[in-house]
Amino acid sequence: MSNSETALLLCKKSDVPEGEAIKIEAHGLELAVYNVENLFYVTDDLCTHGPGSLSEGFLEGHVIECDFHGGCFDVRNGEVVAPPCMIPIKTYEVVEDAENVVIKQP
Ligand code: FES
Repeated sequence: MSNSETALLLCKKSDVPEGEAIKIEAHGLELAVYNVENLFYVTDDLCTHGPGSLSEGFLEGHVIECDFHGGCFDVRNGEVVAPPCMIPIKTYEVVEDAENVVIKQP
């Protein structure tokens, strides 16, 4: 269903276990894709605080904890919810699709 000019296919929804995050490198981007109760969210994978990879962090509800220094972000809007992070993480708009995780072209 996706318009390939405005939407980017990242992976199948079934590739992302519920309550977990995976890293996707595609379209020149390094992204973390999260499955929270079968709703999907996408952020940059690289933590805004340093070299942490958020897809390797700990997802609890809508909060991803970076495993590098323990900073936390809300995956829904990228807001910082725990220090030492200060800068929100970039989020991507997920497009409705039955089978795949698709984002709007940033
Ligand atoms: S690199 Fe993520 S909290 Fe420091």
